[in-house]
Amino acid sequence: MSNQSQESHAIPNHQTTILALGSYFKGTAFLQQCKELGCTVYLLTKEKYKDADWPRESIDEMFWMPETHVQPDLTYAVSYMMRTRKIDRIVPLDDYDVEVAANLREHLRIPGMGETTVRHFRDKLAMRVQARDEGVNVPDFSPVLNYDDLREFMERVPAPWVLKPRSEAASFGIKKLNSQQELWDKLNELGDRQSYFVLEKFVPGDVFHVDSVIWEDEVLFAIASGYAKPPLSVVSGGGVFRSRNLPYDSSDAIALREFNVQVMNALRMKRGVTHAEYIKDADGKYYFLETAARVGGANLAEMIEAASGVNLWREWARVEVANARKEEYHLPPVRHDYAGITVCLAKQEWPDLSAYNDPEIVWKLKKEHHAGMIVRAKNPERVQELLNEYGERFATDFMAFMPQLDKPND
Ligand SMILES: Nc1ncnc2c1ncn2[C@@H]1O[C@H](COP(=O)(O)OP(=O)(O)O)[C@@H](O)[C@H]1O
Ligand SMILES: [Mg+2]
Repeated sequence: MSNQSQESHAIPNHQTTILALGSYFKGTAFLQQCKELGCTVYLLTKEKYKDADWPRESIDEMFWMPETHVQPDLTYAVSYMMRTRKIDRIVPLDDYDVEVAANLREHLRIPGMGETTVRHFRDKLAMRVQARDEGVNVPDFSPVLNYDDLREFMERVPAPWVLKPRSEAASFGIKKLNSQQELWDKLNELGDRQSYFVLEKFVPGDVFHVDSVIWEDEVLFAIASGYAKPPLSVVSGGGVFRSRNLPYDSSDAIALREFNVQVMNALRMKRGVTHAEYIKDADGKYYFLETAARVGGANLAEMIEAASGVNLWREWARVEVANARKEEYHLPPVRHDYAGITVCLAKQEWPDLSAYNDPEIVWKLKKEHHAGMIVRAKNPERVQELLNEYGERFATDFMAFMPQLDKPND
């Protein structure tokens, strides 16, 4: 483990000390907020990201390792750090860090989400079992363990089904299956890896997300949004990613916020931030799809901040620090505007977004081979109108051809 000391001033008394695990470059606002609250901030990242644009003025010491998930190396490294440093809280910045953070907390006896609860937020089978056992509506599913159970499931629940990795999504992806034979063939191919998958009913419908801030078992802030379907003119599997927050008093938003409370209670979420996804089928029934104990990806945090003024990274920092200091946490003032995001992969290295100049544009993505924007307005119709327009324009101006993704779209 290497380390780079930013400042060498002595700390008179023990300050609240936060160790952030960042196996990917993100969470700048989290680190800045911790520093603004007067914490000592340590960042442990991968060697690959040691020169990334981290907010160095907010980081007291930065550490890096070739890999941050290999055990027992990580435990050795953090325990070694702790010989001369105290750590009050460990916070994962990326989804992959969520599990290792829990593993470290358990070993080092640091408060926060432990291994039992973290399973509910990382393992799609654990999410399903826990939610169902607590009476939450989920797509019917079966573990890939006992073959009699699998046969019984496929007899009982008509195809199509989806076979998904329980946590390591990147390696294999989600497969839509139409017949029993397809499942057996797939399992044959997977061999010993098959138990790391879950089989479930494919529920066609609209996909929503609810992003929340939770403090002492209570959802204090939750905003419901809906992903848009790829525009009809887009034929490839890639498409343009779009989402916008729903009218606050719409029946969908009200139902989703209520459902989200039920899900967070069922999964035993105590405090922090969550991103949860839901499906609404043709009959108007809602299903819990999946959740994560972290800030949602794909710049949804920026979209939510544009709509509500709430920056989920900053609130997460405030929640963790308040808990470490045994203080009360209070939400900042919440705005009730509307925002939407449009993002796609771009064929140009640095796509030119200058032709997009509507006054509602509040943010543009600066990322190689990506085009992206966030708009904000007082009314949801205007946001929807702009997203519809940009969906079409992005498809012709920027969209790179993408090979068919391993994800079902309908
Ligand atoms: N049971 C299901 N029924 C219908 N669509 C599904 C189902 N499970 C997943 N999907 C689709 O696949 C996408 C990805 O699945 P998800 O469980 O959210 O995994 P991840 O986002 O980790 O890849 C969802 O947004 C949804 O569009
Ligand atoms: Mg998902």
